[in-house]
Amino acid sequence: MATVLGSHGLTFRQDYFGDPPAWTALVALLEDTFGIDVSIQDRFGGPDPTSMPFGYFDENGVCAANFSVFSMPMMIDGRLVKAAGFQSGAVRPQWRGRGLYRELMNRAFGWCDQQGFELGILLTDKPAMYEPYGFKVLPQQRFLGAPPPAETRFVGTVRELSLDNAGDIALVRRVLRERTPVSSFFAVMAQAEMFLLNGFFDPDVRLTYLDQFEAVVAWKEDETSFQLLDIAGKTIPPLSAFFGALDQRPDRVEVCFPPDRLDWRGKPEPFPSDISLMVRGSAVGLSGPVTLSPMAEF
Ligand SMILES: CC(C)(COP(=O)(O)OP(=O)(O)OC[C@H]1O[C@@H](n2cnc3c(N)ncnc32)[C@H](O)[C@@H]1OP(=O)(O)O)[C@@H](O)C(=O)NCCC(=O)NCCS
Repeated sequence: MATVLGSHGLTFRQDYFGDPPAWTALVALLEDTFGIDVSIQDRFGGPDPTSMPFGYFDENGVCAANFSVFSMPMMIDGRLVKAAGFQSGAVRPQWRGRGLYRELMNRAFGWCDQQGFELGILLTDKPAMYEPYGFKVLPQQRFLGAPPPAETRFVGTVRELSLDNAGDIALVRRVLRERTPVSSFFAVMAQAEMFLLNGFFDPDVRLTYLDQFEAVVAWKEDETSFQLLDIAGKTIPPLSAFFGALDQRPDRVEVCFPPDRLDWRGKPEPFPSDISLMVRGSAVGLSGPVTLSPMAEF
């Protein structure tokens, strides 16, 4: 895309991930702003190919500001929804308060409308900033209950995966490509990059492969809780099969996505968080429970 010099002396660029120095400049902006190194994605096959970044660069190639959109098809209320996620919103401190982010938001939201996305989704600790653009906060829930009796007929192989192992990364990527949405109420249909990044950044996340279901189960536990974070699989195993396969017997389970496909019922509880899930578009009046799996967070 042709570059445009703005009135602030910065150059606007869109769709610039094909230019390695510009990608490196964005990595630096996100590292300086959020303290995370997204270049680790190179190990997992690179940034999401559907990403559409909007950014401002100075004359030395420093990325002063950015806001990105990526495609994140969702299953919502039993329907495939063409959704877009917004992420990597940051402006370097010396450039803040001059309307740069406003310009980038307008460009990104306008681009999404042109592309025909039905729904925009973002996670933020500054919900007021997005309300003028039609975003609304969706309260999230978690589901708590006793684990089901373990399935004794579980016959398949169970294997712990490591994101330090290239073969395991390839397996997770394949499963993510072929996955069935983990819920019919509210779940990501396709999007591999965030699952891999979230699994990598949180060392407590365990990934267990159940070959009988061709499914990777993401979970974690501490002294007080056992959390089921997500299941990426060709089929979704019932919760009883997962506990049959696993050498674990917690008193209580917390499921971090709507559990309608788990053949198990948990009590929905509000999930208070500093980070709000916001949506904009036609699916705002959802009927089912809303919870974005922590493995899909962005
Ligand atoms: C938040 C951030 C991106 C704003 O960038 P900026 O270029 O200073 O923002 P702008 O000057 O374009 O302001 C855009 C609008 O957002 C509002 N805004 C700016 N910072 C805000 C904040 N912290 N909380 C709420 N609203 C805010 C402005 O008042 C302005 O509103 P207006 O259009 O009605 O005048 C920047 O401060 C930043 O990078 N912060 C750290 C990272 C971060 O929080 N990113 C957002 C992740 S959701």
